[in-house]
Amino acid sequence: MPFLCDVITLFPEMFNAITQYGITGKACKNAIFQLITWNPRDFTHNNHRTIDDNPYGGGPGMVMMAQPLEEAIIQAQTRQIKLGLKNTKVLYLSPQGKRLDHETVKMLSNLPGLILLCGRYKGIDERLIINQVDMELSIGDYVLSGGELAAMVLIDCIIRQIPGTLGDPESANQDSFTNGLLDHPHYTRPEQYKGDYVPEILISGNHAHIRRWRLQQSLGRTWLKRPDLFELKFAQGMTREEEILLEEFKESYKSR
Ligand SMILES: C[S@@+](CC[C@H](N)C(=O)[O-])C[C@H]1O[C@@H](n2cnc3c(N)ncnc32)[C@H](O)[C@@H]1O
Repeated sequence: MPFLCDVITLFPEMFNAITQYGITGKACKNAIFQLITWNPRDFTHNNHRTIDDNPYGGGPGMVMMAQPLEEAIIQAQTRQIKLGLKNTKVLYLSPQGKRLDHETVKMLSNLPGLILLCGRYKGIDERLIINQVDMELSIGDYVLSGGELAAMVLIDCIIRQIPGTLGDPESANQDSFTNGLLDHPHYTRPEQYKGDYVPEILISGNHAHIRRWRLQQSLGRTWLKRPDLFELKFAQGMTREEEILLEEFKESYKSR
């Protein structure tokens, strides 16, 4: 059964970016996930297919009305129920939501499906959010013009966690954040590029040394670039090997 993703959006065509290209496009073709869009305009009961109106209390911008969104959500839920899913979570992409992180992505990738709600304009009538939305998720502390790009970011990172999506299933497990650290650096051919050489250890063929070097780079980079992550990872202390590798990294960093 594919991961079922029903998206409520005024701009369904935008989602071609993930259903037709790259890893997610391939996953879609291989039925690892299925994406269906629902346009709230198709659920309006007025001749102009209007989905927004002025805000009560005045002020700039328009607000998306609850009724077309609620009917679109019900249609999405009905489809997922027919396919055997129960109580699918309705998730609203919003700058006011919980900030997206690796833990949340992992948790969501274990669900059989999701219903994603993309806002536009000033946002959505609050009553719809209170009554229909299970979770609000933000992709960062800034404001986008609409929820579509945020929904695509979310879908992309969920899909790459689903077994069968990546050529090598180990690949996602070695990316940044999976073990609480940033990924180590990567190099490919040629061995020398504009006077810079690939670190010798990577062409030594000694897998134990390569593992140690990579762990050291991950530790060092996390310590340098993301002290917040580093503190979280090592709140309970480091192993002796990690301590030694980090000390070596700090020494070589100081003498640069
Ligand atoms: C212009 S924004 C509305 C912002 C809203 N007035 C506020 O300040 O909280 C329009 C839509 O873009 C989406 N959006 C904007 N920023 C986002 C973010 N950081 N993460 C997820 N969705 C976002 C939401 O769906 C939102 O309803």
